[in-house]
Amino acid sequence: MKESKDIPQPQVIGAFNVLSSKATKPQEYYDRIKQKFAEERDLRLKYRPEGTAQYTSDLTGALAKYEIDPYGGEITPREPINDTVECLFIGGGFSALLTSARLREYGVESIRIVERGADVGGTWYWNRYPGVACDVPSYDYLPLLDEMDYVPKNRYAKGPEIYAHCQAIARKYNLYELATFRTTVTSTVWDDAEKMWHITTDRGDHMRARFVICANGTLSKPKLSKIKGMELFKGHSFHTSRWDYAYTKEDLSGLADKVVGIIGTGASAVQAIPRLGAAAKELYVFQRTPSSIDIRNDWATDPNWARKLSLGWQAKRRARALMEPQLTDEQKAELAAMSRAEKIRRQENANIDYMTRIHRRIDELVKDKVTAEALKPWYMFMCKRPCFDDEYLPIFNRPNVHLVDTKGKGITEITEKGPLFEGKQYELDVLIYATGFEVQKTGIYNQVKGERGLDLNDKYRDGIRTLLGIHSQGYPNLFIMGGYQASFQFNLTDMLQTQGDHIAACIDYARRHGYQSMDATAEAEEWWVQEVIEHRGKTTRNQDCTPGYYNFEGESNRRQDGNYNGGFRQYFTHLGEVRAKMEEHFVFTKK
Ligand SMILES: Cc1cc2nc3c(=O)[nH]c(=O)nc-3n(C[C@H](O)[C@H](O)[C@H](O)COP(=O)(O)OP(=O)(O)OC[C@H]3O[C@@H](n4cnc5c(N)ncnc54)[C@H](O)[C@@H]3O)c2cc1C
Ligand SMILES: NC(=O)c1ccc[n+]([C@@H]2O[C@H](COP(=O)([O-])OP(=O)(O)OC[C@H]3O[C@@H](n4cnc5c(N)ncnc54)[C@H](OP(=O)(O)O)[C@@H]3O)[C@@H](O)[C@H]2O)c1
Repeated sequence: MKESKDIPQPQVIGAFNVLSSKATKPQEYYDRIKQKFAEERDLRLKYRPEGTAQYTSDLTGALAKYEIDPYGGEITPREPINDTVECLFIGGGFSALLTSARLREYGVESIRIVERGADVGGTWYWNRYPGVACDVPSYDYLPLLDEMDYVPKNRYAKGPEIYAHCQAIARKYNLYELATFRTTVTSTVWDDAEKMWHITTDRGDHMRARFVICANGTLSKPKLSKIKGMELFKGHSFHTSRWDYAYTKEDLSGLADKVVGIIGTGASAVQAIPRLGAAAKELYVFQRTPSSIDIRNDWATDPNWARKLSLGWQAKRRARALMEPQLTDEQKAELAAMSRAEKIRRQENANIDYMTRIHRRIDELVKDKVTAEALKPWYMFMCKRPCFDDEYLPIFNRPNVHLVDTKGKGITEITEKGPLFEGKQYELDVLIYATGFEVQKTGIYNQVKGERGLDLNDKYRDGIRTLLGIHSQGYPNLFIMGGYQASFQFNLTDMLQTQGDHIAACIDYARRHGYQSMDATAEAEEWWVQEVIEHRGKTTRNQDCTPGYYNFEGESNRRQDGNYNGGFRQYFTHLGEVRAKMEEHFVFTKK
């Protein structure tokens, strides 16, 4: 049993301290590595100039099978629902659960979750691939630990434990009663005369709700790389978020005589590959860009530590995550005297030192020199979601595990036998797509129409427009979670909790004042759009990074069409400021 005698500090990812960081090598060394980063990025951009359009999340026709729920069983027929609730959540993941918990605390009784899956959990319902676990310490990632009186079993909770936590939250807050599962919201339309949202679904329902919360997830709709011939493959295939255990068996013994391929080496693949490598007859890993893999250092929670935790321990951790770093007067003076260019240079050099440590770790753990070289990521830390895993790199030492390094090109053709790369045919029994998800889109599977029937996508056509990434003018009583123009946090539940607290407080305010509707003012929305623009595009970081979903696959996009980069603390402060002056930021109507 390790540490955890004291409450360990929340993890800070990707922040390199410019004060303490001292270059360990001459500047030319760092410049050469930066040059190599740029070359590797350019290579990838050359291979896929189409940016985000290289992917499709339109999983219909021959691709429809990649989105079918393998866990929920047969869909049982039911009568359409035709009723009215006060708060309706589109989606049943953490966003819905933790906001509902707060609403219950405010005394809101009528809460409905509408969810495509057969249960709550969202990400943790859908993603059951072998090895699935969180990559943020569970003491921070799992929300509502104080309220649930629960201490996670490990430093990094595994998927099933997180899923069970979601279910426990739904039980504790009585969220199953009105919830409806295996149901997709297809339209959400505001009726201005009634001041009500009308929600229709793929099950023929017509529900009405005073407040709607779009909690449809940041990464919940699977996407596929558009690869020539993929529909021709005659073997078995599925996406990581729709793991077919009927085929692989729970213990993966169904793969013992199978040749397996996996496309992608992002965070999902990194967790699945060690288990696949151990179970499959042969495993081919089709890599386009390697992930950075650092030490995981997982441990079982020390029961003595857990026993001593007093109520409010998680809230204290969350508060610490929001605290400004304490600097001495000397440090403040040093920072003030440092030019912007020097700060950036120090950050970058420290980042490069970190990445070269990641490279050394690969050399230590992977025996074959060619494979080790191919596994080295050549980009700045945090250009892609970093991974922490102790089993991923060593799995490539097994004779049955083969890395197919496509050197930035990716798989571009699949035949009925499997991927074809540079003239070589890879004959597979099963092909797994670890190609990720549509990112931070509000209204997936769904059409949101606000005042005057304006489709949210049409409103956003000339740029996303929100207040705090949560409210959008012309969409009264609608709240958005996990969308763009909000802050980005490595621990996403921190951000979602912050949004959930804000949304519940807004709804409580409207209820207490007898308001029928609340809508952001045009001025408040414009203020926030300008805030987002002001903080984005200040550095060339996005352009410098290798393509991935963090930088819109290298596409240049409008400055307002991304996350708020002013920092999480600042975002949190802005939420509070808006709530302190509700009448200034919103237009309210009474009956
Ligand atoms: C494999 C994986 C691992 C992750 N690990 C971490 C981690 O370690 N740390 C971290 O901070 N973040 C992690 N994330 C991000 C994770 O998505 C968030 O942490 C969080 O769980 C999101 O919760 P949510 O409720 O906003 O969205 P989700 O959990 O995605 O839930 C949204 C739900 O909405 C449903 N839905 C969407 N549209 C509709 C509709 N029209 N009608 C009905 N239902 C709909 C979806 O089916 C889905 O279940 C991970 C993501 C993935 C994919
Ligand atoms: N808790 C966790 O540890 C955890 C686990 C899973 C997911 N997540 C979250 O979910 C996000 C999504 O992760 P993900 O791994 O599912 O998706 P992802 O990060 O988007 O990764 C997709 C992968 O597919 C590759 N790819 C796409 N097209 C390809 C092609 N034609 N040929 C070869 N490779 C191709 C990509 O390569 P390129 O890099 O070259 O684009 C990338 O490696 C993560 O970033 C993270 O936020 C977290």
